[in-house]
Amino acid sequence: MAALATLVVIAGGALTLSWGVLAMQDTSTPADSAETALLNQGRLIFEETAGGVGCASCHGHFALGDRGIAPNIRGASEERIRNALNTVQNMDFLNLVDEEIRAVAAFVGGLGALVPAKTVIQRAAVQTTELTVPAGKEIQLIFENIDRTRDYTINSEAIGIEALLVPARKAVDYVWTAPEDGGTFTVTCANCSEAGAQLTITVTQE
Ligand code: HEC
Repeated sequence: MAALATLVVIAGGALTLSWGVLAMQDTSTPADSAETALLNQGRLIFEETAGGVGCASCHGHFALGDRGIAPNIRGASEERIRNALNTVQNMDFLNLVDEEIRAVAAFVGGLGALVPAKTVIQRAAVQTTELTVPAGKEIQLIFENIDRTRDYTINSEAIGIEALLVPARKAVDYVWTAPEDGGTFTVTCANCSEAGAQLTITVTQE
């Protein structure tokens, strides 16, 4: 069940929002599912559809600002986004309607509550083999597959990731609460080469 799901917990669990498979479980209130729908819409706009390319094409997947084109905007407010849409020349072509701006703002704003931890997968190897993350925080593990045709599958019994598919040219995330008491966790890429199959995540207490 946890397979293709992404779970985001904002503000100490006051509001639990889910995407993917989890979104289909019917344990949420109508307000929750409206919020989930808004987030799903915002995620799609951000990652793929805004201006036909997605905000991610300039701001990086999940707004990390790691493409060298446009800054990290994780946690940016709706006001900041509206302001950028009105003033940044490079963003002139985007033409989002009001509802789409609200959706993308909900998604980008929510990213501010998560600590990102990214690895790139290329040519059957995990490019970052060690990551360090803070204890007790919501960690957004991000797997970015930059191969053109090969898909990869991620597993981690310790973290609870089961056959997470990372399709060619896509970035996929998995949100996980790093345990308070720290530890070391292994994540494996099932169909990577033996030498490049393992990512070790160290959870440190601050
Ligand atoms: C074609 C590239 C491109 C696309 C697509 C794009 N942006 Fe930008 N964006 C930029 C650049 C470049 C800047 C920095 C402008 C500057 O600093 O003068 C920027 C700045 C911003 C800022 C202001 C940064 C700050 O620190 O306040 C926000 C917010 C923003 N973009 C949001 C978005 C959102 C949301 C989308 C999708 C709906 C998007 N952008 C799509 C290129 C892009």
